[in-house]
Amino acid sequence: MPTVELSTRPLAEADVDAVIVTAFEDGLSPAAEEADAALDNLLAEMREAREFRGRFAERPVIHTLGRLPARRLLVLGLGRRDQLDSFRLHNAFHFAGTALRKQGVRSVVAYTDPAVVDALGNGHVTLPADVARAVVTGLLLGNYEGDLNKSEREPATSIDTIHVAGLDGDAGALAAALADAQVLAEASNRVRTWAAAPSNTLTPRLLAEQASALYEGTGLEVEVLQRADLEREGMGALLGVARGSDEPPVMIVVRHDGGRPDGPRLALVGKGITFDTGGISLKPAAGMEMMKWDMGGGAAVLAAMWAIARLNPRANVIGVVPATENMPGGRAYKPGDVLVSKSGKTIEVTNTDAEGRIILADGLAKARELGATHIVDVATLTGACVVALGHVSSGLMTNDRDLGQMVKDAAVRAGDRLAELPLHPEYDVALRSEVADMKNAAGREAGAITAAVFLREFVGDIPWVHLDIAGAVWNDQGDMTPIPKGPSGTPVRTFVHLARAFAEL
Ligand code: BES
Ligand code: MN
Ligand code: ZN
Repeated sequence: MPTVELSTRPLAEADVDAVIVTAFEDGLSPAAEEADAALDNLLAEMREAREFRGRFAERPVIHTLGRLPARRLLVLGLGRRDQLDSFRLHNAFHFAGTALRKQGVRSVVAYTDPAVVDALGNGHVTLPADVARAVVTGLLLGNYEGDLNKSEREPATSIDTIHVAGLDGDAGALAAALADAQVLAEASNRVRTWAAAPSNTLTPRLLAEQASALYEGTGLEVEVLQRADLEREGMGALLGVARGSDEPPVMIVVRHDGGRPDGPRLALVGKGITFDTGGISLKPAAGMEMMKWDMGGGAAVLAAMWAIARLNPRANVIGVVPATENMPGGRAYKPGDVLVSKSGKTIEVTNTDAEGRIILADGLAKARELGATHIVDVATLTGACVVALGHVSSGLMTNDRDLGQMVKDAAVRAGDRLAELPLHPEYDVALRSEVADMKNAAGREAGAITAAVFLREFVGDIPWVHLDIAGAVWNDQGDMTPIPKGPSGTPVRTFVHLARAFAEL
């Protein structure tokens, strides 16, 4: 982990490998103006020549030829002021971090524009500390390279010193934000590593082992329920999905008991499908390799629990991750089968590819048994959500406006995007079954919503939020999009901020 510190050094004295200054489309930041003056108006000239317009995530790297003590200057476009939000701010610095890492830069000073604090506000209260947190988190996300399984590779370089300058504000709050950012980024990168891991190196058992290893020394209590435990607990839904695989399923349960014993208890429940072939309702071959990230929701829960233990808010938080492969083996569950879930509710399987909601049914029941007063589940649940929102936002569905608002507020801090989809009563009929309490899949219409309607059956009257991250978990749209490519780690940082908000309840 790089060293991260506040700095008050002016640009003219910053003897680091690279400095970052920012610009909006309508003008340079004060630090960028300073750099421009030191470079004989090079930035102004580039602007006139339309080589740099301050567009979002533009990031030319300029050699300073001795005019500044830093050898390189990265000018980071933040786009239009009225379009800046926390997601875009994180992403801009993520791109900047990647560009500098790839150039072998080791030490960086980011000069932050005080105007970013106002731009980011856009109706929300924003503090300099929120900007500092976003800047450092973004840089650390960009500094992450990920595990590559190549037998020959060039020695990787990474940034090892980050200084943040240019922000006026409460020094204590700013320093705390930098410390936060390091934990938040490490948690995000942990999720990204897990999401990217091939399914042969990350089976349900290995996921449980790696999470348990991560928790050593944190004070978290972790329990890994094995097949016999799942049987004893009547988890016929999770066991049903697991039937087609030779890899044994597990349910991972983690607890952070930081609040009053009689206080609210937040449960985070994540889908842990380590590979989704679709089962007997087999998926087409094209693109199936992406289904290694079908445990992205579970990974976000597990890494959030680690970060929560590190930051130690006075809140009670439980993480629950049902994990299995979805395979079409000889003993696989089949369309027409009826499963008896832990809750006692019966499920007619009409499509074995709608497996995520089935395993979550037992995860939600487990969370209730453990005394959850509030539940947030997260899953790469539906292709329909990808069609609706692309990689740009996750879907949020809820039975409780207050908890929904808490999650949305946490997401704004975190730089995660959530768009709410409605649970109108007209959707309720979609999953009615002739032979069981409900069926697991309906037609294509409103697919993201009917999946949530299924999950809602298992939360009873507990305030609940469902996050469908099927699109946001991974951006496979190439280098031209204004969203970093590959796994995002979402919504692990939202969970950490949410746990903090629970400490205030
Ligand atoms: N893991 C998938 C969701 C998914 C599919 C995410 C494609 C991203 C891209 C999930 O288990 C699934 O297969 N869902 C089905 C549900 C349907 C059968 C009701 C889907 O969305 O097609
Ligand atoms: Mn599926
Ligand atoms: Zn799936």
